[in-house]
Amino acid sequence: MKKTKLSFITTLYRFGIPFETDATVFNKKDLAFEDCEKIVYFTLNKKENKTILSLKLNTKDRVYGLGETLGPLNKRGKVYRLYATDDPVHTPEKDSLYGSHPFIIISNKFGFFIDYPGEIIFDICYTKFDEMKIEINSNNFDLYIFDTKNDIEIIQEYLKLTGKPYIPPKWAFGYQQCRWSYPDAKTIQEIAYTFRGKNIPCDAIYMDIDYMENYKVFTVDSNKFPNFPEFVSNMKKLGFNLVPIIDPGVKIEDGYDVYEEGVKNGYFCKDKNNEYFVATVWPGYTHFPDFLNPEVREWWGEKYKLFTDLGITGFWNDMNEPSIFFVPKTLKEYLKKVDELKEKEVGLEFFMIKDEAINLSNRREYYKSFYHNTPQGIYSNDELHNLYGYYMTKATVEGFEKIIPNKRYLLLSRSSYAGHHRIATIWMGDNMSWWEHMLVNIRMLQSLNLSGFFYTGADIGGFGANSSPELVVRWMQLGVFSPLYRNHSALGTRHQEPWAFDEYIEDILRNTIKLRYALIPYLYSEFFRSIDNLTPFISPLFLYFDDEISKDIEDQFMVGASIMATPIIQPNANGRFVHLPENKWLYWKASKHNSRNIKVYNPGEYYIEANIDEVPIFIRENSLIALNEEEINYVNEKQITDLTVIGFVTDSAEFIYFEDDGETYDFNNGRFAKIKIQVNKIDNGYNYEIEKDESEDFESSVKRIKFEIYDENGQKYTEIVEL
Ligand code: GLC
Repeated sequence: MKKTKLSFITTLYRFGIPFETDATVFNKKDLAFEDCEKIVYFTLNKKENKTILSLKLNTKDRVYGLGETLGPLNKRGKVYRLYATDDPVHTPEKDSLYGSHPFIIISNKFGFFIDYPGEIIFDICYTKFDEMKIEINSNNFDLYIFDTKNDIEIIQEYLKLTGKPYIPPKWAFGYQQCRWSYPDAKTIQEIAYTFRGKNIPCDAIYMDIDYMENYKVFTVDSNKFPNFPEFVSNMKKLGFNLVPIIDPGVKIEDGYDVYEEGVKNGYFCKDKNNEYFVATVWPGYTHFPDFLNPEVREWWGEKYKLFTDLGITGFWNDMNEPSIFFVPKTLKEYLKKVDELKEKEVGLEFFMIKDEAINLSNRREYYKSFYHNTPQGIYSNDELHNLYGYYMTKATVEGFEKIIPNKRYLLLSRSSYAGHHRIATIWMGDNMSWWEHMLVNIRMLQSLNLSGFFYTGADIGGFGANSSPELVVRWMQLGVFSPLYRNHSALGTRHQEPWAFDEYIEDILRNTIKLRYALIPYLYSEFFRSIDNLTPFISPLFLYFDDEISKDIEDQFMVGASIMATPIIQPNANGRFVHLPENKWLYWKASKHNSRNIKVYNPGEYYIEANIDEVPIFIRENSLIALNEEEINYVNEKQITDLTVIGFVTDSAEFIYFEDDGETYDFNNGRFAKIKIQVNKIDNGYNYEIEKDESEDFESSVKRIKFEIYDENGQKYTEIVEL
């Protein structure tokens, strides 16, 4: 073991010769290491091809992080296995999901990040109440220790190491509609016209696997989409972004260009006999592109041109754990076993055969049996397993740099590794239309934000299983605060578009989506501020408040610095218990974006009411939020000329409104405007200070600010300031 100091706070401990994963943003080549025997905090136990790190914890130590994992926000009490897995049934006992983010905060003590792309098992106070035991399936890895007691500083160090979070285009803050599938142009157009006809804002419609010709990646079925370019352009005119799904498995089929090019150039992963590895996914038998090879990435990345040339800038890279339904040989062996049972009287064997069928998918042995040809050598997929989704996404992004330079994109991936947050994002995979999964959504939103994924979200309304009208309403209300606001549902389940139920529910959902659109000036400005400060956009309360109760809370969270969300996630409830920490709060029971139902609360514990049509919003004392009250159908439909600023000011408050073109990286070159808005309490009201900071070639469109400020008694003061 060797170590080197990377900053005042961070030490890198190097074990063996690790694979350079790409998780970090600096060049490690010239690092000067010194040999060392001891490591701080952990007890080390090296075994053959395994390393075990253990750490004693006090009863009240809190453990956060691990990005996309199930279980509580404070990760104690569960085993987490970081080994990317396509598991569509997220029940509490499951230990693996799609991503691997081995970053941990031991609150008020220190933080660490294990840069290792194979299997890592975290037993966090599960086997022993006071012990964390980490089993790394290798003797080659990097361990970074962030030696500060300050949780925010730990996150900032991690983000300095792994990179600033990715910024999607502004339209990605609008509402997005998905379903597996809207299979053809006609259906998608109908959905689009319904949104516009019913006056429900929406910015994106997704294209799930059925748009392809027999699920062949980078094809569009010409029967279902007779004139694809014209269709895309018509959708654009209506203000809709299309977001096609891209799966990595390439169908084995003579005459299919992607397959033939891949075979000719040796771009697919091979098995130990140097034959292309065959796995079965949606298209049937497929090969997997070897994204760990830079030449393959170059080839793959340019394929997105098929869509980007038509103006499409949204994509979701799916199935990239990679998911394997089965490999043909294993299925055959299984079917033979079933065949042998045909003539027998079957009893207990039934269960064996049933479970074995389920276990045909995603077997570890499959991942051990194919290889990546990387610039660092040949490795089995098992050794680098958690990198496949990241490198598929890296291929996409490297392609974008060439084919749509300086254009921001919405890019979701299902699988990911640490550092993925720098180039794109993820959604949380296949959840269910269960009330319990709203809590899972909330916990993961916070954990992912702690791990750098500021823009992310779950399938709103739930993917699998049938949803109920009330569940969809409450989840869509929670979604108002989810950076990625996408409703998605699976084939064969009940529809959950805003109009899928009855007119009463449709009306509530219309108002809910309009509330989200009204909040975009606040959300977008705060998102940029979070990126600048390297602090989570969606934060657990413990990052803001010191009191003991806040530390236990996982179903309330901060959205930016001024709003606390307290979503209702219980069926048949007309309210909920909330904890209001530290200061006074202004409760806005929002049934519509332009109607206020306001009440001031002192700090403490309360049962607050929020009927089915009301979204609870808490505004922190001495803070402001900015709204666009003009109704829009989609984000870029109209420029914002009038801002409404709602404030709860007992002394003074400040907000910085941020504006840019919303679609390029020109803000990096100063093409943006900021409006600093300050509200100060004076004897008989308030005074308002406004400072504009614009670059020469970017002028803010805001002409007027309508202030609506509440004092400690909830009394309202209004003022209109022309800019
Ligand atoms: C996977 C994805 C899901 C998608 C489905 C069909 O289950 O996670 O979002 O709808 O595949 O493509």
